[in-house]
Amino acid sequence: MPDTTPLATLSPADKSMDDIVALAKRRGFVYPASEIYGGLRGFWDYGPLGTALKNNIRDWWWKCMVECPPIGPDGQPVSIVGLDSAIIQNPKTWQHSGHVGGFNDPMVDDTETNQRFRADHLQGIFPLGANEERVRNTISTEVGGETTSSFSIGVPIPRATIIASSPEEAAGQLVSDKSLRKRLGIRFFELVEPFDEQIVVPCCRIDLGNGKIDACISPALVPLEQQPAEVPSPYTGKKNVLTEPREFNLMLDTFPGPIRDEDNKAYLRPETAQGIFLNFKNVLDTTRVKVPFGIAQIGKSFRNEVTPRNFIFRSREFEQMEMEFFCSPEDSQKWYEFWRDERFKWWLSLGIAEQNLVLRDHDSDELAHYSNACVDVEYQYPFTAPGFGELEGVAHRGCYDLSAHSKGDNNKDSNTKLDYFDQELQVRLQNEGVDKAEIKERSRYVPHVIEPASGLTRAVLVLLCEAFTPTPDRDGAKHILSFKPRFAPVKAGIFPLVNKDGMPEVAQKLYMHLRQKHAVEYDAKQSIGKRYARMDEIGTPFCFTIDGDTLENQTVTVRHRDTLAQERIHLDKVEAFLDEHIAG
Ligand code: GAP
Repeated sequence: MPDTTPLATLSPADKSMDDIVALAKRRGFVYPASEIYGGLRGFWDYGPLGTALKNNIRDWWWKCMVECPPIGPDGQPVSIVGLDSAIIQNPKTWQHSGHVGGFNDPMVDDTETNQRFRADHLQGIFPLGANEERVRNTISTEVGGETTSSFSIGVPIPRATIIASSPEEAAGQLVSDKSLRKRLGIRFFELVEPFDEQIVVPCCRIDLGNGKIDACISPALVPLEQQPAEVPSPYTGKKNVLTEPREFNLMLDTFPGPIRDEDNKAYLRPETAQGIFLNFKNVLDTTRVKVPFGIAQIGKSFRNEVTPRNFIFRSREFEQMEMEFFCSPEDSQKWYEFWRDERFKWWLSLGIAEQNLVLRDHDSDELAHYSNACVDVEYQYPFTAPGFGELEGVAHRGCYDLSAHSKGDNNKDSNTKLDYFDQELQVRLQNEGVDKAEIKERSRYVPHVIEPASGLTRAVLVLLCEAFTPTPDRDGAKHILSFKPRFAPVKAGIFPLVNKDGMPEVAQKLYMHLRQKHAVEYDAKQSIGKRYARMDEIGTPFCFTIDGDTLENQTVTVRHRDTLAQERIHLDKVEAFLDEHIAG
């Protein structure tokens, strides 16, 4: 695994999501989908720079997982092959995988406003998950171990969280503490009269950068024993307006072909994983892989999320990077631990500071229907700080999926048995003198699966958050994006200092040479300061400037984005300089 030096960054809690979203839009990373028609909730378009950033992360994942996978715990090179399966599969796939019956979120409705919320996001209706407990512990520790609660400014979903002992105290802190307001990204705040006499919490008018909105300060964590009626709506703060939780299936459906009826209903895949399980036998029969091995896939997935939120964190269309690693049941725990550690290291290789990442084991009541054990890699997003939110799950899926799709008593639809005869294990057991019946029993099995599953679009969000660095003292850009060079959409800017005196010709020649290999931009317009500022804001790590000295001694200035350091190198060395720094 290459260099894992972190980017020099501010704590995520000190970064404003509004500023990050605004920069992403202004510079062409991410746009609301179909914006000219008013957008569509939960859908996003990736602009020129966002597409480049996403592709750079995607290519690095593919390289580390498929082209150059790590050495395994047994000292042998790990074998992983790639796949690109269809988004729409036979709908029986989703019946046997358990998604038709089990891929649900509990949901409650606000009967007054018709707003819909995930019940497990409204603590009090559903037991607190381990995640929320941990957030509460983090908060408690931070304030000296005292029992405290956190309060959300909800509009309609929590937009910022604050620690206090009551909603009134939280409101008081917001009124009096300007730096707290700044930290939470609140540009304007004022307490107002409750919008309705039934509202039981302080009401306010806030501006998080999108104009003023009426909001309530409601408990983010309320006691477990409270019933839905007792839980205030996060939208209005009123009690007695939320319905009982109902299950809501997350799959989006469609009707391939001319007839729109139940018999012809198919689903857009909610995860790329099932396409891998369906092709297990194909890959085994048509390539030279042997268990243990992995199949990796990157592609779009779709979920009809009840509450898509936090920019591209939870959207209805997103991209996943998933790998299913097939191994013998006897070795599965060893591989689970191996992939847990490897995947954590991989996120560090993106330049993410270690203190912004954690590994969190799932509690048994949190496990998905298919999973025996799961550990999440979590990141401290500005909207979860000081807590963390999911970035990747590494799940021990046991033999759940292959058994479910395998021809047998429980699956009369499949025409294929998905088991494996392990010849190497058979020979090893023979050499160990194990008796014949046991050898037969142990060497044919349904492989177990370890699955590292991450979101590519969520990784884009993480790198935008991690790289975002306010630079109030710098001339020029007010914010820069400190991407590691490998992930920067543009690797270098090439500028003539002035657009005359033979400099453009030399700069153009350098540009024409470098563009054959790297994403570089030529720019001769505006002052040199403005050109640097633009490159800083889009995260370009280097600028090469051709000036008067270049014409005399063939050297150029290299300007480094993060330190502003400048050095001179020979024109002939520029390509090697870029090669070396991008590979790091
Ligand atoms: N095959 C297992 C699986 O899909 P998951 O935890 O549901 O597991 C894996 O999803 C990853 O996909 C998550 O860790 C997250 O990064 C990403 N992801 C899931 N739902 C998402 C959504 N609605 N929007 C963006 N990314 C999502």
